[in-house]
Amino acid sequence: MKLFLDTANPKHVAEIASWGVLDGVTTNPSLVAKEGGDFKKTVLEMCKHVPCVSAQVTATDFAGMKKQGEEYAKWHKHIYVKVPMTTEGLKALKYFRSKGIRTNTTLIFSVPQAILAAKAGANIISPFIGRLDDAGEDGMELIRDIMEVWSHYKFDTEVLVASTRHPRHIVDAAKCGAHICTVPYDVFTKLPKHPLTDVGLKKFLEDWEKVKKG
Ligand code: G3P
Repeated sequence: MKLFLDTANPKHVAEIASWGVLDGVTTNPSLVAKEGGDFKKTVLEMCKHVPCVSAQVTATDFAGMKKQGEEYAKWHKHIYVKVPMTTEGLKALKYFRSKGIRTNTTLIFSVPQAILAAKAGANIISPFIGRLDDAGEDGMELIRDIMEVWSHYKFDTEVLVASTRHPRHIVDAAKCGAHICTVPYDVFTKLPKHPLTDVGLKKFLEDWEKVKKG
């Protein structure tokens, strides 16, 4: 499973990329607003570290999405144009696929939406599991359903588990066979940690001091 960072903070991207485990970045307008700064500069900085950076269009009609997406795609070859799951978005996905511009479809909350986005040619679909959990539904159930559907067909669309809130979401996404999981920075930094690793390392180092003293 590929691991992406869900952020618009280039410093966080550089830090996690330095671990050697980062495959991509997902940004969205809310994350960009939170971090501030120039959107193009931010995206280009992140493109130095990973081969896949999602940049979301803010237009809501096909013509506007086409214009924005074509502009983003010119910025860097690592950019995936992020398109919302609407009927105008479907038209844009179809168009971008015909032009070789790679896409990520955002705000997927159901299996029918996932199927339509894949049929329209999305390279990635992003079901939002945390927001479904917030609404009293089972977000991971949607991932299980989508992966089951995918197992019957030959869609080349990757399923990206988005809106993750804790490490267990990453474990469950992997158990479902999801292709990608995007993870917020505060959750990503928890992934390498285990208290027994800390205790074990402390003991190894203490014992090694005894060896050195003879
Ligand atoms: O990248 C979009 C998605 O991961 C949003 O997450 O926490 O705002 O629901 P959240």
